Amino acid sequence: MARKKRKIVEQVQFSGIADKGLAVGRDPDGQVYFIDGAVPGDEATVEITRKKKGVPFGKVHHITKESIDRVEPFCQHFDLCGGCKWQNLSYEAQLREKDTYVRNAIQRIGKVEVGSWEPILEGGKTKFYRNKLEYSFSSARWMTEEEISSNEVITDKKGLGFNKAGTFDKVINLETCYLQEAPSSEIRNWLRTYTSGEDFPYYSSRSKKGWLRNIMLRSTEKGEFLVLISFAYDDEKLRKQLLDDLIVAFPAIKSVFYVLSDKVNSVTIDLDYHHYYGEKVLIEYLGDVAFQIGPKSFFQTNTTQAVRLYDVVKEYADFKGNEIVYDLYTGLGSIALYIANEVATVTGIEEIPEAIHYANINKDLNNIENTVFYTGDVKDILTDGFVQKHGKADTIITDPPRIGMHPEVVNTLLESGAKKIVYVSCNPATQARDIRLLSEKYEVKRLRPVDMFPHTHHVESVALLELK
Ligand SMILES: C[S@@+](CC[C@H](N)C(=O)[O-])C[C@H]1O[C@@H](n2cnc3c(N)ncnc32)[C@H](O)[C@@H]1O
Repeated sequence: MARKKRKIVEQVQFSGIADKGLAVGRDPDGQVYFIDGAVPGDEATVEITRKKKGVPFGKVHHITKESIDRVEPFCQHFDLCGGCKWQNLSYEAQLREKDTYVRNAIQRIGKVEVGSWEPILEGGKTKFYRNKLEYSFSSARWMTEEEISSNEVITDKKGLGFNKAGTFDKVINLETCYLQEAPSSEIRNWLRTYTSGEDFPYYSSRSKKGWLRNIMLRSTEKGEFLVLISFAYDDEKLRKQLLDDLIVAFPAIKSVFYVLSDKVNSVTIDLDYHHYYGEKVLIEYLGDVAFQIGPKSFFQTNTTQAVRLYDVVKEYADFKGNEIVYDLYTGLGSIALYIANEVATVTGIEEIPEAIHYANINKDLNNIENTVFYTGDVKDILTDGFVQKHGKADTIITDPPRIGMHPEVVNTLLESGAKKIVYVSCNPATQARDIRLLSEKYEVKRLRPVDMFPHTHHVESVALLELK
C-alpha cells in the first residue's frame, strides 16, 4: 500500500520553544506549528506528521533561512542521537529560550506578579556534566542510509551506545559522548573492542537472545567510577575474564557490580546486584555533605549544578537558624541534608522507600541529628496530626515531580501558615498552576530559572513565596 503523502507547509517562521523542546512556528496565515528540528529564528519548509487537538506537529523538511542563533553541533552523533537536541542552538540562545519559557508559564498560567525576576542561572559545566550514564548493547546497531543502500556485506552489526530515539532495539554505536567526564567514553569503547568477537554475543531485544545487555557508569567529581554490567545469563569464565581485564585497563574504576537479567525490559533496579570488585559505594559531596553512591542510589545527575540549585534554595529561604522546615518530595533527602546545619529541624517526605533508606544512611554518614524522614505520599502524610507532632513549619521546601503538587497538598500548604514556601520545579507549567492556587495567600517574591541540563530543553525553576 502506498504511503499517504504528508502535508508540506512552506515559509514557517520560528519564534520560540514549546514543551518537549519543539520549535513553535507560524506560517504566513498565522497558523501555529510545533516542529522538531527547527530553532527560533529559522524559516523552514516543514512536513506535518500528526495533529493533536487541532494543532499540527511535524518535522523540518528543509531550512530556507537559518537563525542567527544556529551553531554547528559539537557532537558527531547529533543527527542520530537525540540526546542533546539543542546543540544546534548557541548556549546563550538556549538560556534565553529557557528563561522566556519559564516567564511565559508563570505569566500565562500562573497569572501572578513576581517581585523580582532573576536571570537564569547558567549551567556551570556545559559539557561532561552528568554523573550517570547508561548504554545498551545491541546485536542490531542503527545503520545509516548509506550503509543500507550500499551493496557491501555488513559484518559488524553489534552496537554499544544509546538507543536510537523512537526505536526499542536499535542502538547507535557511539564513538564520543560529551555528557560524562573521561574515561566514560573510553570505558564504553574499550568494552566494544574487547567484546567484538563471536564469544561475546550482544543482546537482541527482538529475539531475546545474546549475553551482554547494558552498562551503567556512575562517576564522582573526584573522577572515580562505579560500573554495573547487566548480563542476560551467567557465563562465569567469560564474565570474570571481561571484568578482570576491564578493571586492569581503567584504574579510575573503583567499584564493579553485575546483574543477571532475563527480563523482557532492561530495568534491573528490582533485581539483586552482585558486588564483584572494589568499594561497595562511592562517596560524593554536595557542598560539605557526603552522599553514598551505590548502583541503586538515587542522586541528582548533575552534581555541580545541584549544589548551585540548592544554594538558590538556601538564599531564598534565608534561614536564621531557628526554623522548623519541611522538605516535601525529598528524594534521598539531598536538600534536607544540605540545609540541616542552618535550621532547627527538617522533616523530609518521599514516597519511594529505597530513597528514604539512602536518606537515612546519608543522614548517619554526616552525623546529622535534626532531620527525620517519612515514607509515603505527601498528601497522605502531611496531615494535621503530622503537623502537631513535628511543629508548624516556618519554611516549606517543595520539589514535586513534573505533574506538580496534588490539589490536596496545595490546600494543606494554604492552611499551613508557613511564612515561606520555596518551590523547586522541573516543570514550569505545573509550578505556575500551583503558584496560582497558592496566590490566594502567598505572593511570589523572587523567581529564578536554573539550567541543570545544557543542550536539552529541560529547565528547573525556583520560586520564593511569602505569606501575604
Ligand atoms: C523532582 S524529585 C525531587 C528530589 C529531591 N528533592 C532532590 O533534589 O533530589 C521529586 C521526588 O518526589 C517523589 N514523589 C513523587 N510523587 C510523590 C508523592 N506523591 N509523595 C511523595 N513523594 C513523591 C519522587 O519519587 C522524587 O523523589
